[in-house]
Amino acid sequence: MTLSVRENLSSSLSEIFPDAPSLGPIRFFSAPGRVNIIGEHVDYAGGLVFPAAINFRTHFAIRTNGLGTFRLYSLDFQSEFVTNDLNYSEKKPWANYILGVISEALKLDLRVEGFDLAFTGNIPQGAGLSSSAAVEVGTAYALSKIFNWDITKEKIALLAQAAENNFVGVNCGIMDQFVIAVAKLSSCISLNTESLEYSYHSLDLPGYEFYLIDSNVKHSLKESEYNDRGKEVESATSKCNKLSTEVRTLSQADFLLIERAGLTPSEFKRATHILGERSRAQNVIRSLKDKNAEKVGEELFSCHESLSKNFQVSCEETDYIVEWFRSENVLGARMIGGGFGGCVLVLDKEGRSSDLFSKLEKEYFQKFGLNAKIYKFSISEGVREDS
Ligand code: GLA
Repeated sequence: MTLSVRENLSSSLSEIFPDAPSLGPIRFFSAPGRVNIIGEHVDYAGGLVFPAAINFRTHFAIRTNGLGTFRLYSLDFQSEFVTNDLNYSEKKPWANYILGVISEALKLDLRVEGFDLAFTGNIPQGAGLSSSAAVEVGTAYALSKIFNWDITKEKIALLAQAAENNFVGVNCGIMDQFVIAVAKLSSCISLNTESLEYSYHSLDLPGYEFYLIDSNVKHSLKESEYNDRGKEVESATSKCNKLSTEVRTLSQADFLLIERAGLTPSEFKRATHILGERSRAQNVIRSLKDKNAEKVGEELFSCHESLSKNFQVSCEETDYIVEWFRSENVLGARMIGGGFGGCVLVLDKEGRSSDLFSKLEKEYFQKFGLNAKIYKFSISEGVREDS
């Protein structure tokens, strides 16, 4: 955390919330955004995902206030929210990520008393890089430290996911919160989203680079069809399970089963994506180990095609960006995250990104009137206390 971020956070706390009878010491925490290399829209179907934390972070300053109220301040929105009522706030959407964490912690009988929290960050919002999961995991981790919870990072991830599901109302899977909680420098995690077993893998393709293009189409998972996909996956799973009881998640089905299970045409398409993604994820993890960048790239293109045609979570703009990069002979490109806008991940030989981006930027603006952005990233650490 840079000195100026730290100073801004501390001075916000003392200016916005100056008085309280017994203020605790200020502690600092931060939580990263994430990318996902492969395994998209499978974490609510028991699939394999391969995400990593990135060097864009949300920073928090927190202290106990002895007041029994929660005094929250977002530096980026320049907006404060003081409450002791744990109801969803229509007026301050950003506060719900924090209130949701408090509410889930109380359900688990974890101690939460009054506190002051200020936060700010550079994770682009609505770009599919999990800025909201970073707020949830960062808050949960900070609370665990100031109120001395006996809890693992894996359990923090589950608590943060419950906040998103039960309080915010997005039935997301576990991928984002989990990687933000447990990530290590320079590593992706391969995570089985049914068993929650995971392992670390280095992401190292000498001579090649991954980068992100933000389509600047802002997605909001709450308003997108994200929850509808969850329902289709659930109904397809229960139809498959009726025929074959050992199939507990859609990722455990096979093509024969999904053909016989009486799925609706759209359920069938969703299931086709889930099964295809299972082999793509295995291939990418193997190819990264073998340093076979060409193969990784091919799988990224085919993942995008499946997300666009079978899972139908892309949009005209991200489809355009992927096709544009294909025509420039990059190794691979695909939309990442929840979709309906957000970012495209590109894999290419090192050294071409700036020239390609200047060309794309112009053509994209001419076509859609939108400003694309490029984000270079490195693989970072998960949530942490910043001393
Ligand atoms: C969002 C959700 C995740 C996951 C991705 C798609 O980021 O929060 O749980 O479903 O979309 O892979």
